[in-house]
Amino acid sequence: MTELTTVIHDASEIVVGPGTDAPLERYENAAIAVTDGRVAAIGPTEEITDEYPAENATHAIDASGRSVIPGFVDSHTHGLFAGDRSDEFAAKLGGEQYQEILAEGGGILRTVNAVREASDDELLANLLPHLDTMCAHGTTTVEIKSGYGLDTETELRMLDVIQRADEQHPIDVVATFMGAHAVPEDEDAESYTDRVIDEQLPAVAEQGIAEFCDVFCEEDVFSVEQSRRVLEAGMEHGLTPKVHAEEFVRLGGAQLAAELGATSADHLLHANADDRAALAEAGVTPVLLPGTAFSLGADYADARAFLDDGGSVAVATDFNPNCHSQSMGFAIALACVGMEMTPAEALVAGTHGGARALDRAGEAGTLREGMLADVAIVDAPSHIHVPYNFGVNTIETVLKDGEPVHG
Ligand code: NIG
Ligand code: FE
Repeated sequence: MTELTTVIHDASEIVVGPGTDAPLERYENAAIAVTDGRVAAIGPTEEITDEYPAENATHAIDASGRSVIPGFVDSHTHGLFAGDRSDEFAAKLGGEQYQEILAEGGGILRTVNAVREASDDELLANLLPHLDTMCAHGTTTVEIKSGYGLDTETELRMLDVIQRADEQHPIDVVATFMGAHAVPEDEDAESYTDRVIDEQLPAVAEQGIAEFCDVFCEEDVFSVEQSRRVLEAGMEHGLTPKVHAEEFVRLGGAQLAAELGATSADHLLHANADDRAALAEAGVTPVLLPGTAFSLGADYADARAFLDDGGSVAVATDFNPNCHSQSMGFAIALACVGMEMTPAEALVAGTHGGARALDRAGEAGTLREGMLADVAIVDAPSHIHVPYNFGVNTIETVLKDGEPVHG
């Protein structure tokens, strides 16, 4: 028999997802019923509670005065790491450049040393509290990349820890292999690219945990040609491509993402009109990461240019030692104030957009009938309060598959 897990009723609004003739489809004075972990019905409270009486539900939640939104889908993080790079944040504020720090063996390479030295249990113990924080801030699905190992053993260990975290933590964790995240010290990019392809990728494919393959296509990191070789080899092993593209300079990663039919192209601070057109044409989701620009003091990606010709984008945190925020609410606030997105556009980008960037638009990111009942309840009557009340967590309660997991 179907179990009525949860009824959330009397919400001042429930955001369903992107609308066809409005930025958001939403109901006022609304309720949502959950059976078997999925949305069974959503609509005006009276209609829904007639069919699904709250007293029959395992969890009945009175959401008076609150907005109910889909759980956030954070589609780009490097959330598994070790060590502390807060001093680099201070150095960058003092004028040092991200790429200079990396070229001197700091940045990603410093985290690589810390991760190689950490045991699997230490890595897991680092990750789980970050997942707790993300969950408390309304994230119900998160992507996490490897890429702080840069050798087969450590890359496999990272993916294994990501899988263990997925099993142990209520939020969904999606694994991306990113052996091509930086070139190890004392190695050249070309020979390391060969090692990623010949040694790491076959082992990663055999381990079977990673779903996506990502590469840092950037000046002085991996060229377009090296990136293409890695991603094509990944595709042969069944991994779906993603690209870190046009972050510091315009190198051609966006065009590569379009050519390969990648699921997403991410960062895009220096993407131009040709890049935007190519991504749209190829159906590649642009993932914008305003927290990274904020923390680097860089110019934001041109979200309006992506959106104004009818396109859509995802917004994610890019949580990593260089962009130390787990909060999708903060990313959404930056998307509004820094990238001139409307609160509705930013909310859709942090939910449905994220789900598209992870090939999960049929499962997560909207609250339509049949979708996973991944829900965040805002401690305010409208979704606008998420960016409006910036710097503060506005999320009061979080449900994953209809079960309360926070609040
Ligand atoms: O997406 N740009 C490359 N990778 C990360 C940064 C990782 C790090 O600095 O540790 C990013 O911002
Ligand atoms: Fe990244």
